[in-house]
Amino acid sequence: LNNGLALTPQMGWNSWNFFACHITEDLIRETADALVSTGLADLGYVYVNIDDCWSAPIRNLEGQLVPDPKTFPSGIKALADYVHGKGLKLGIYGDAGAFTCQVRPGSLFHETDDAQLFATWGVDYLKYDNCFNLGIDPKERYPPMRDALNATGRTIFYSLCEWGVDDPALWARGVGNSWRTTDDINDTWASMTTIADINNKWASYAGPGGWNDPDMLEVGNGGMTYQEYRAHFSIWALMKAPLLVGCDVRNMTAETFEILSNKEVISVNQDSLGVQGRKVHVSGEANCQEVWAGPLSGNRLVVALWNRCSKAANITAKWEALGLESTTHVAVRDLWQHKDVEGNAVASFGAEVESHDCHMYIFSPRTVAHSETLVGSY
Ligand code: DGJ
Repeated sequence: LNNGLALTPQMGWNSWNFFACHITEDLIRETADALVSTGLADLGYVYVNIDDCWSAPIRNLEGQLVPDPKTFPSGIKALADYVHGKGLKLGIYGDAGAFTCQVRPGSLFHETDDAQLFATWGVDYLKYDNCFNLGIDPKERYPPMRDALNATGRTIFYSLCEWGVDDPALWARGVGNSWRTTDDINDTWASMTTIADINNKWASYAGPGGWNDPDMLEVGNGGMTYQEYRAHFSIWALMKAPLLVGCDVRNMTAETFEILSNKEVISVNQDSLGVQGRKVHVSGEANCQEVWAGPLSGNRLVVALWNRCSKAANITAKWEALGLESTTHVAVRDLWQHKDVEGNAVASFGAEVESHDCHMYIFSPRTVAHSETLVGSY
């Protein structure tokens, strides 16, 4: 969507994956505090997004949405002011149907009023869900909210949450700043890998202004191992997915923080070229040794070696799979070891990768120095 936003994928936090309906204004404030105090905000995680359940079960007599008086007694405007005071942005949630998934009032046919209300509250981001949609085509339900948001004069990030049901990658670029390509993620290896593969199919449709959204991060929620979370974060970053943290950032382990705060991996996600990386090669008996890659600005490449097998494996990226000339010399930077790999790689690069782990590298192709080209060439 050409509204000046999402030139790189959105980064922030969302309440749903960990808290579901157990949300309060205190939690949102404490989360904003924690994003700042941990340093995550400075790394780019600026959207503080409230998901479903913030709203009271019915509209007021004027037909307006009302924050639940028990859990959000000070209202959303006060919360937006607080979050803005910390240099962060506030996101809210609505539904392109009669009700939200947790049966709060939906915004279908209330687009103008609700968008106006969100704007007066100072909301910066809307996640727009797909429950109770009365069987109406999403291509008819999602544009009215885009237009209503646009008409408010406030710049509001528009995130489509249509779960990939009607192939949104094919039509949503002019409608929203991101579109979900899959059903909900859950905190398991099976869910995360399945979703990565589905999102991968739509790679060519992503770019500045509009991104494929394979759903929010589960890193730190306890259902996967350190290696699996590292793979999850690496692949989401490489796929130019929104990086929306889904854990309790007030209580992160050192490992969780280490993953989420990896600047080098974040910089891949936020690279100005904005091209979604993809799975470029599979090998091994069950095709579970994977190479994912994509171009970055400055003629560089990101390359991930992802071992989805149940045993450690040596995975090799061959230059032909990366679109490089086989004679190209490449300087390799390891984004998890935070080290330059010694010497240049030529023709291929391989490494031993633990089961379910993912190594991630930036490849900088070098022009071969003149003296090198002369060696042995009489
Ligand atoms: C379905 C969405 O896909 C989830 O991300 C979450 O927003 C829930 N609805 C909330 O009810």
